[in-house]
Amino acid sequence: MGSTENLILKVEGATVGYSEIDILHDVSIVLRAGEIVSVIGPNGAGKSTLLKTIFGCLTPKRGKVFLKDEDITGLKPEKIVKKGISYVPQVENIFPSLTIQENLEMGAFIRTDDFSSRLNEVFELFPVLKKRKNHKAGHLSGGQRQMVAMGRALMLDPRVLLLDEPSAGLAPKLVSMIFEKIKDINSTGVAMILVEQNAREALSMARRGYVLATGKNVLDGEAKALLANNEVARLYLGG
Ligand SMILES: Nc1ncnc2c1ncn2[C@@H]1O[C@H](COP(=O)(O)OP(=O)(O)OP(=O)(O)O)[C@@H](O)[C@H]1O
Ligand SMILES: [Mg+2]
Repeated sequence: MGSTENLILKVEGATVGYSEIDILHDVSIVLRAGEIVSVIGPNGAGKSTLLKTIFGCLTPKRGKVFLKDEDITGLKPEKIVKKGISYVPQVENIFPSLTIQENLEMGAFIRTDDFSSRLNEVFELFPVLKKRKNHKAGHLSGGQRQMVAMGRALMLDPRVLLLDEPSAGLAPKLVSMIFEKIKDINSTGVAMILVEQNAREALSMARRGYVLATGKNVLDGEAKALLANNEVARLYLGG
């Protein structure tokens, strides 16, 4: 028994950049089975860069990414996704000209088995998508697009889901709805890293949280403790 118990994903000392300039400096985070971990921090802190690194869109110059005991550093996204990690990017996360159902089927593109039962499960999670399955995704509201993006990522029945600002740009009512869906997904056993601007709401749902600023780990801990921390509230939760 130790702090590594049930560890499912680990980033260890990652230094990452898009060019010679480093954006993340020695960043570490861990995710345990079944938990929601929220990553918060100001614009440009490197939150999206961290998710892109886990998913293999970027390769760290230093540091490692582990899925359980397996070193997955440097693997490309098409390999990572086969290992059970799905990713919903912050932008351009649906195919607007395809229907809802086609978007979900695209999510299953690497599956060689019959995925119709998974499609039904995703439709159960998002009944509104089932009702509109033949509508073009580009014609949907922001909240429904976000559901399509999450549904697409869930088609592979991942162990880990990386969500980059799922509530961005949504009206308050839809923000709550998306967070409810995230809880539902988590209750099916999917561990998640949730990057959010709505930091207070994200921490309220998470077991633990990490604060990133200027590409560095600033603080981490139990989400409840972070919410109760005056300094965190003042700097990162809008007072
Ligand atoms: N493709 C890119 N090429 C070069 N620099 C980039 C690229 N994408 C992001 N950056 C830079 O990396 C830094 C971190 O960006 P990142 O998108 O990871 O931040 P973030 O915490 O997700 O911010 P936000 O809250 O605005 O989404 C920023 O300074 C940004 O300008
Ligand atoms: Mg971002």
